[in-house]
Amino acid sequence: MASIGALLATSAARLALRLAARVIRPEPPPDFPVTAMGLHLANPLGLAAGFDRDGALLRALPLCGFGFVEIGTVRLQGATAGPALEHLTRPRAIPVGVNFAGASDGFGADALAEYQAAMRLLAPHADYLTANLSTPRAAMRQREAPWRRAAFVAALCRARDALAEETGRRVPLAVKLPLGAGSPLECERLRAAGLDGVVGVGADRTIIEEVALSLAPVPLISVGGVRSAADIAARLARGAALVQVHRAFTQGGPLSPRRLLAGLDVTARSPPAVSRRAG
Ligand SMILES: Cc1cc2nc3c(=O)[nH]c(=O)nc-3n(C[C@H](O)[C@H](O)[C@H](O)COP(=O)(O)O)c2cc1C
Repeated sequence: MASIGALLATSAARLALRLAARVIRPEPPPDFPVTAMGLHLANPLGLAAGFDRDGALLRALPLCGFGFVEIGTVRLQGATAGPALEHLTRPRAIPVGVNFAGASDGFGADALAEYQAAMRLLAPHADYLTANLSTPRAAMRQREAPWRRAAFVAALCRARDALAEETGRRVPLAVKLPLGAGSPLECERLRAAGLDGVVGVGADRTIIEEVALSLAPVPLISVGGVRSAADIAARLARGAALVQVHRAFTQGGPLSPRRLLAGLDVTARSPPAVSRRAG
């Protein structure tokens, strides 16, 4: 769970962004093109979930230089998704992922029905979806019954496919998980289940590398502890396709993504799950 300090820092950073959006000149995001989950992104740096929970800042965030933004976690309020749906229906400048969860944290039938209902509501407005399975309670359930999470994710993949058939639009589905010693094996199962991406929370470089290998060609989106351009380069070099930041942004301010990307040594990046666009 986020600390009070982190929540306060996030509120201050939201305010700073609202003010900066009035004066920052609109410029295209730094151009280190990557393709992941079928999405063409200007660069591999994204904003992690939790900063813009309902998408209210989707007009301001692209000015900061991100290649993509993940909003949420969106939880259904009754049968609606609250203000998120309204914000998501507006035009936007960069791809937007929607991180979502049900009201229950377990992997049982109730939780599955809630996650499926959220997918149905949010998929039409998302460039990709992330099922958030990284809450502390979800991690606890995982320790109690490690096999259940993979079965839960497989059921979500089937729901994604059913939605695609019904609507004619396939929306990539990722899951957000804390990374640990068992992750490489679990990620092999998730790849086999047809998942489109894993947002892996953790800074252990060996585990990141093993997870990226076991997922490939399914992309790993690495998040957690990224503070500098060198951290981004290290995650990409270990096989992550994309990298997200939260605290580096709340602490570094609205121009920090452009600074991070300027410091990134483009030639150091050769991640297996990313295909560079021609030209
Ligand atoms: C204040 C705060 C709120 C967060 N809220 C969410 C959330 O709603 N959903 C989510 O998936 N992650 C949430 N996170 C986790 C971040 O997305 C990220 O995984 C985590 O902060 C590690 O990245 P960092 O080291 O760059 O901060 C939150 C983090 C912070 C600090």
